[in-house]
Amino acid sequence: MGAQEPVVVHKGLENVYVCESNICFIDGENSRLLYRGYSVEDLVENSFYEEVAYLLLYGRLPKREELSSFVESLRQSYELPKVMLDLLKQFPKNAHPMDVLRTGVSMLSFFDNSSDDYSRALRIIGAMPTIVASFARARKGLELVAPKKELSIATNFLYMLNGNEPDEEDARAMDIAYIVHAEHEMNASTFSCIVTASTLSDLYSVVTSGIATLKGPLHGGANERALEYFLSVGSPEKAEEAVEHTLNAKQRLMGFGHRVYKNYDPRYKILKPLAKALSEKKGKAWVYKTAEAVEQAALKRLSEHKIFPNVDFYSGILFHALGIETDLFTPIFAMSRSVGWIAHALEYVQNNRLIRPKAYYTGELNKKYTPIDQR
Ligand code: CMC
Repeated sequence: MGAQEPVVVHKGLENVYVCESNICFIDGENSRLLYRGYSVEDLVENSFYEEVAYLLLYGRLPKREELSSFVESLRQSYELPKVMLDLLKQFPKNAHPMDVLRTGVSMLSFFDNSSDDYSRALRIIGAMPTIVASFARARKGLELVAPKKELSIATNFLYMLNGNEPDEEDARAMDIAYIVHAEHEMNASTFSCIVTASTLSDLYSVVTSGIATLKGPLHGGANERALEYFLSVGSPEKAEEAVEHTLNAKQRLMGFGHRVYKNYDPRYKILKPLAKALSEKKGKAWVYKTAEAVEQAALKRLSEHKIFPNVDFYSGILFHALGIETDLFTPIFAMSRSVGWIAHALEYVQNNRLIRPKAYYTGELNKKYTPIDQR
């Protein structure tokens, strides 16, 4: 029995608009995704992550000088304080890199001497790849690789991870992965970020909230699970039986389905050919072919329910082909998404309203306290 008049409860806040925004437009029926009015396909074709980051943060494409000073400031943020590097080496080797990233971003705030939110934003976006790559090496007992300030964010990440610079094709694939993950309207992690921002907390707390929320397997964590699934299926021939088994057991196929897209996720369309090309190049074509067979088998069952592959279906194959360990996939998603989180947080507080929804109480009323030995 409720204590109030019955109300409509918007479980999962589905279809609830929480703010007005100029950052991202999604048309889930027609597979459209626009950042500040530009289609993600156009940006992937013509731009690169740093320029997209500027676009998302400032609302327009930069002029040449604006872009170079933005890139320069970002690159000044690649390095971590020595005390953080020392600590990263002491973290348990089995810690999940997403937990390390969450703690790392939070810790960065101790060393902040930025003068405003935009320089703070660049500090966070620039430093996140260094946290992830450094921990990835430290846990294997490898020497840490210092960032190279002349490299782009995506190239520098692969460089810090592997100790050598990627070739142009690998670097471009990483950059495209960065672009397609950069922003996605009011998803769960971005909502966490604006909740935190709405209390007038700081940007480090905002991004820490975002990382914590992205970690879950229904959100960013799906890319790791999708790749693990393909590896466990083992070959294209076994895909149909595996998918039948998964779906008949009422389990969810990771990398499929979306709250907003009721058609193909446009990011999936961008990543699929890249995943194919890189898998073939790196001698891992069987993983791609297995994923494709899983996709075909799953579509037979799920497409009639408007459940299609999402961004996470092929992103893991791409990262795997680049030699990246599975548990770094979600941190990469976070590294890229940090810009979207920050753009939304900064936009939200321009017209701030503390986010404080309500819970409809369905518990008992007027109970009397029972002493412990009478329960
Ligand atoms: N595999 C099998 N069945 C599914 C799937 C799936 N991946 N996704 C949805 N369904 C079914 C679900 O079982 C339900 O069926 P029924 O009505 O018979 O119970 C129906 O579709 C509706 O599902 P829902 O959970 O109400 O839909 P939602 O809008 O909450 O789902 C989702 C969105 C992403 C949580 C869900 O599709 C899912 O769990 N997908 C797998 C995880 C995943 O790939 N997540 C990444 C999302 S994209 C990256 C990002 O932006 O975070």
